[in-house]
Amino acid sequence: MSIKNVRLEVMQSIEPKVEGFIDEFLIPSEKIWQPTDFLPDSQSDNFFDEIEQIRGEAKELGYDFWVTLVADTITEEALPTYESWLMDVEGIDQHNGKDNGWSKWVRAWTAEENRHGDVLNKYLYLSGRVNMREIEITTQHLISDGFDIGTDRDPYKNFVYTSFQELATNISHKRVGKMARKKGNALLAKMCTIIAGDEMRHHLAYREFVKTIIGQDPDGMVLAFADMMKKKIVMPAHFLRESGGNIGEAFEQFSNCAQRLGVYTAQDYIDILKKLNDYWEIGNLRGLSDQAEKARVYLMKLPERLQRISERMQFSQDQYTFKWVQANGML
Ligand SMILES: [Fe+2]
Ligand SMILES: [Fe+2]
Repeated sequence: MSIKNVRLEVMQSIEPKVEGFIDEFLIPSEKIWQPTDFLPDSQSDNFFDEIEQIRGEAKELGYDFWVTLVADTITEEALPTYESWLMDVEGIDQHNGKDNGWSKWVRAWTAEENRHGDVLNKYLYLSGRVNMREIEITTQHLISDGFDIGTDRDPYKNFVYTSFQELATNISHKRVGKMARKKGNALLAKMCTIIAGDEMRHHLAYREFVKTIIGQDPDGMVLAFADMMKKKIVMPAHFLRESGGNIGEAFEQFSNCAQRLGVYTAQDYIDILKKLNDYWEIGNLRGLSDQAEKARVYLMKLPERLQRISERMQFSQDQYTFKWVQANGML
């Protein structure tokens, strides 16, 4: 049987369980938090006072912080790219009857994710610290440019990617929240922390999908995991550009900011890999084909190898000025 058919069969055999995953890992629309729970109520008489407070507290935050928050927001705002990508994955079939569990998952996951960009965008708009028009141009560019995460339509590779990436966003939102709290910005801290909580639930779900697949097709899954790690897990916003800029140019600069700030670093990448290896018990898998066994050994050795590389790695300390954020004298 071709690889493609095996994957399709595995996806179809897990499909009846997906409803249960939705109940376990996602929260119904009427129970979950909404952006307005954290933002000033525009119907209230206190609206302008609350905005004044937001603007006052925002002045305490530095340049790299704003750049990181802007890029995190834009990453969340490019959700149409992610939904359309996932809908196209082998086995996630939105056309074959409305009740396909996988497409239901993708829609429900998207619906949760959509609130992230929504709340952050509104906060940035009210903060008065950023150039919204430039941010909007970048967002439009990013959605239009799409992404290429190296997964193709392969469900195994896509779920490795999402397992990895949801934890990466959990880490970065959590750290941004902590920094905001340190600077006395309780509202922003709360928003980032609650977003991080969503990302964690999503991570737990995707890693469960992979674990379930390992139970059925360990060879295929280990090979897919190793293949993704060989290519490196790129960030979803790797095509980020500013107005007038070339595709991907702003991403590198933003990535330097995030490293300098310690919001998402090479060490985090290694730690995520280790966690995935542990949860999927890559170390204990036996009876694999020769090729998959090689991939398994590669995965087990990879954290140490990356550790050695990361110790030699350097990132730029130069302060690049983005169009999204004017220098505010608080570098
Ligand atoms: Fe998100
Ligand atoms: Fe996410």
